[in-house]
Amino acid sequence: MTELTQQKQLLSPTLCAKIEEWNKRYPPERKASGVLQALHYAQEDNGGFLTEELLNGVADFLEMPRTAVYEVATFYTLYHLKPVGRRVISVCTNISCMLRGAEEIVAHLKKRFGIELDETTPDGQFTLCEAECLGACVGAPMFQIGKHYYENLTPEKVDQILDGMKTSHG
Ligand code: FES
Repeated sequence: MTELTQQKQLLSPTLCAKIEEWNKRYPPERKASGVLQALHYAQEDNGGFLTEELLNGVADFLEMPRTAVYEVATFYTLYHLKPVGRRVISVCTNISCMLRGAEEIVAHLKKRFGIELDETTPDGQFTLCEAECLGACVGAPMFQIGKHYYENLTPEKVDQILDGMKTSHG
């Protein structure tokens, strides 16, 4: 068994194929350029969070130092290093959102769910996270759930959004 085959075994064949497909857009000597997407695929594949094995697997697969992959995974709030709920609510608490009421939004969410930041509701539905600026300052205060941004939040609007999700299967 070659060294590369051994490295690949840390990741599933399906995951390796997805990363390889994505990386076709980069020159072979620039494999590391695909690290963000590779981590995204790995996280998606693993029910929403990254394990040490996955981080090492991505690093080996992309022939990067493992520490570099850890740096990426810990820098971006969209990567989770422990199990999360079905939906992750990332509330921006950076300056624009802070000035326009993010604190009230966080307090409302904590009260509604009975959890603190970085915790998951007992039914496994929601994880509450704090995020740095998500680039939607014009709609502050805002949060992100999955791929969607929700802006100009008020406690009432938050309830409407979450009540709508409860009754949907999306
Ligand atoms: S400060 Fe919240 S989106 Fe920029």
